[in-house]
Amino acid sequence: MGRYDEVYQAAQADPEAFWAAAAEDIDWVTRWDRVLDDSDPPYYRWFAGGELNTCYNAVDRHVKNGRGAQAAIIYDSPVTDTVRTITYTELQDQVARFAGALAARGVGKGDRVIVYMPMVPEAAVAMLACARLGAVHSVVFGGFAANELATRIDDATPKAIVSASCGIEVAKVIAYKPLLDAAIDMAAHKPDFCLILQRPQVAADLVDGRDENWDDVMTAAEPHGPVPVAATDPLYILYTSGTTGQPKGIVRDNGGHAVALKWTMKNIYNIDPGEVYWSASDVGWVVGHSYIVYAPLLHGATTLFYEGKPVGTPDPGAFWRVISQHKAVSLFTAPTAFRAIRQQDPEGEHIGKYDLSHFRALFLAGERCDPDTLTWAEEKLGVPVIDHWWQTETGWAIASNCLGIELLPVRAGSPTRPTPGWDLRVLDAEGHEVPAGTIGALAGKLPMPPGTFPTLWNAKERYFHSYLANYPGYYETGDAGIIDEDGYIHVMARTDDIINVAGHRLSTGAMEEVLAAHPDVAECAVIGVADTLKGQLPVGFVVLKAGAGDGAVTQEVVQMVRDRIGPVAAFKSAAVVQRLPKTRSGKILRATMRKIADGEEFKPPATIDDPAILDEIKETLAGIGYPKAG
Ligand code: COA
Ligand code: AMP
Repeated sequence: MGRYDEVYQAAQADPEAFWAAAAEDIDWVTRWDRVLDDSDPPYYRWFAGGELNTCYNAVDRHVKNGRGAQAAIIYDSPVTDTVRTITYTELQDQVARFAGALAARGVGKGDRVIVYMPMVPEAAVAMLACARLGAVHSVVFGGFAANELATRIDDATPKAIVSASCGIEVAKVIAYKPLLDAAIDMAAHKPDFCLILQRPQVAADLVDGRDENWDDVMTAAEPHGPVPVAATDPLYILYTSGTTGQPKGIVRDNGGHAVALKWTMKNIYNIDPGEVYWSASDVGWVVGHSYIVYAPLLHGATTLFYEGKPVGTPDPGAFWRVISQHKAVSLFTAPTAFRAIRQQDPEGEHIGKYDLSHFRALFLAGERCDPDTLTWAEEKLGVPVIDHWWQTETGWAIASNCLGIELLPVRAGSPTRPTPGWDLRVLDAEGHEVPAGTIGALAGKLPMPPGTFPTLWNAKERYFHSYLANYPGYYETGDAGIIDEDGYIHVMARTDDIINVAGHRLSTGAMEEVLAAHPDVAECAVIGVADTLKGQLPVGFVVLKAGAGDGAVTQEVVQMVRDRIGPVAAFKSAAVVQRLPKTRSGKILRATMRKIADGEEFKPPATIDDPAILDEIKETLAGIGYPKAG
């Protein structure tokens, strides 16, 4: 038996012993009563009765243990031409003072704080300061529109919002404050106060009596110590796309999260404390929460905050420049970033310009990794390229080649095997396991390991119905796939209407809600079509109400999605059709439309109402350039 099998079996045979051993790497205020509280299935809690502080574990204890002078965060921002290092001692000071500022304004244990910030280290300071107080942060990605922010404000009902005057997208400066003000106007709930980081590129107007300047607040603040919280108390809420316009508030607890993430740093990523680790994502996504902020800091590593893109800041050598300049030993990003680099530098000429001798591995996740991209990265970088599969819900990888345990043979198209703690099965519609190599719903046997989501914010029923109801005893991942004869997992597609656009998770259902709100639209459908750069792109179809002229409806719905969901949706194509293809019971045949758009073989379902509509759809798609050549 190989080392991976041994560790995996140990976690299966005695999960409590396995995770209790991992929990020894965390400093506890009070040890847990039970490693796994299984008294209320299908709801499980890890480390019940335990008390700790996540911020203490991520910051203070490293200062106490002699890492004070080590870099905790390296901020590298080609868009502002800045490189800045923050040591663990400096981070402790900033976080303690920001926590003091929040506390002085009434934020305490259990209160929510929304963080709406670009990729600046102050975002981590705000998150950690909340954790220090036992307040619950909810970071909202900067590429979302005011309307999405308003939805989150109403759901999380934050006491405070922390934001910045702007974000910078390559050459564009995006003013955040007008979006924040608009969101607060739209929301029924109003925060007590907002703290705004003024960046030199844009000065935000501050609202009297509500908004304060970050710098002023920090200068006057008294440091606040870490507050012990229950292991089962929420650390954060992170909203992610569900099947409707109402996003799901994924809840992460303190204890299981700290234990699991600390464990993954060595076992999955093979990183040692003191090393520089880089996750090129954004704090607004789960990858940013887990692998820009919490895991590297819990581990005493140095994390990189990169405010830039893989290309255009200034060229496709940006990633190699950062790795080489800061001696990063590992990079984690989405395959789309590599497709963007490869498109501009197919021969990888920029790679040769930098010393990458210390670089050990590339990790990819966020969307299916096409074998071409994986092979290209392997060839050009000469290090293992690890595709791993996870979700906002799970907080860390469900399946991965665990580099710190044993490098298993890499197979392009597969994120390898389940990580220890995950008992993964493929189920048919009736919930029966299917034979190896057969496609079905990927589901994890309950309980899920620590660090996964114990519930949805204010929505326990939705948690049950969305994830636990269809397959009793299992967590339904929402992904379909196969497990082959060797236990390798292949994640093939979502079973719901979620699409992945440049590694960003979006709901076509939410986009349909926006299209349907146009006064001239009678019916609509949005599908995700294949895209060589972004993986998938949304395309919309609208049927107009009787008497409505074509006018500018398609441009208008494109603008509406941008205004209501955000530029990150990359919704740029819509077409007017006379009818939508449906089954006799009225279900829109989105999967068939997608196959036509992607130029795949398809057979009209037997239940189709009128097969002739498919020809109209084909023609309409051809009119807007689908299927794409090649
Ligand atoms: N704040 C404001 N706007 C943002 C934003 C932010 N934080 N992030 C993205 N946007 C905007 C972009 O400016 C763009 O707007 P536009 O339509 O006006 O051009 C739109 O949202 C889409 O952005 P993006 O998805 O980044 O696409 P892109 O075409 O600008 O760049 C890639 C393409 C592949 C280079 C880019 O998507 C990328 O770097 N992806 C990496 C993947 C990643 O980080 N995934 C996270 C999960 S691991
Ligand atoms: P998110 O919650 O934004 O992390 O998106 C999670 C979804 O992205 C998963 O449910 C998958 O559909 C997809 N995904 C993430 N990683 C992978 C991967 N390595 N391979 C295939 N799909 C992936």
